[in-house]
Amino acid sequence: MATSAQPQVMGVAAALASASPIRTALSQFSLFDRVALVTGGHRGIGLEMALALAEVGAIVYCLDLPSKPDQDWLKVQSYAAQLPAVDGKKGRLEYIAGDVTDQSEMWSIVEGIVKKEGRIDVCVANAGILRGAECLEYPADEFRKLIDVNVNGVLFTAQAAGRQMERLGIKGSIIMTASMSGSIANQNQHWVAYNTSKSAVKQMARSMACELGVKGIRVNTISPGYIYTQMTRDFLDTKSHLMAEWSAQNPLGRLGRPDELRGVVLWLAGDGSTFCTGSDIIVDGGHRAW
Ligand SMILES: NC(=O)c1ccc[n+]([C@@H]2O[C@H](COP(=O)([O-])OP(=O)(O)OC[C@H]3O[C@@H](n4cnc5c(N)ncnc54)[C@H](O)[C@@H]3O)[C@@H](O)[C@H]2O)c1
Repeated sequence: MATSAQPQVMGVAAALASASPIRTALSQFSLFDRVALVTGGHRGIGLEMALALAEVGAIVYCLDLPSKPDQDWLKVQSYAAQLPAVDGKKGRLEYIAGDVTDQSEMWSIVEGIVKKEGRIDVCVANAGILRGAECLEYPADEFRKLIDVNVNGVLFTAQAAGRQMERLGIKGSIIMTASMSGSIANQNQHWVAYNTSKSAVKQMARSMACELGVKGIRVNTISPGYIYTQMTRDFLDTKSHLMAEWSAQNPLGRLGRPDELRGVVLWLAGDGSTFCTGSDIIVDGGHRAW
């Protein structure tokens, strides 16, 4: 179980220095007293990541398009609220309606979070959309719309949090949800806009990591493979052969679950990854190993 105390020394140094042993490994995943933003946090991968962050102590703001959260989201919020406190502290989930494509709105939403909570430590720029069309016919407005959400929206989210981290001198962690589609093209799918957008997200993270490293702000991407969520269900439900086809494309022989991204987001958000920036962490069931 994570504790709220952040030990000054870790691992072997702690073993050599400490008369009374403490479990410093688990404390590296502790986010008590920290504040996080997760975009696309109303459902799917975003909500799963948000709950994981709250379970280890963070106050997590889930930002998404619906003006009010649905019953499932409220149930998850209530579940988080019922978790036992550690040293009198516990994380929680909050909901904020917002559109990541609106730069000024995103900046002012995060300003508002900081006014209320006093800080922002973790930003997960996760909101994204997936559409398909043949590359030679891709309609301009649809291409622009996808890039607006998946690329511009990720930048505006990262800016909103990064500006506050810089202002407050917080060595925060910005995490972007990219995709294996940023490195490979999905077999038999007409996803030129999506694949382009995810490649851009990976390069955005590297560029921002290089600019912000001097301030101690880290920027990394997580690149999932096929994960079973509403986004992929929209495809799987219309084409019955796809589940078997996608499953056969990785050595584990199946799609991933959103909860299989909990470990990686906790690691990137917390103190276990303080020397990791500008990196892309691939979680794809081995899809790219083949
Ligand atoms: N599911 C997969 O197989 C998979 C694989 C790799 C990467 N990803 C990425 O993971 C992220 C989450 O995907 P998911 O599978 O949970 O999909 P999802 O469709 O279930 O969730 C995406 C969320 O983003 C929100 N969103 C969309 N546009 C928004 C906007 N303009 N402003 C604010 N919120 C917005 C949606 O309302 C939704 O709640 C996306 O960036 C996606 O591209 C998904």
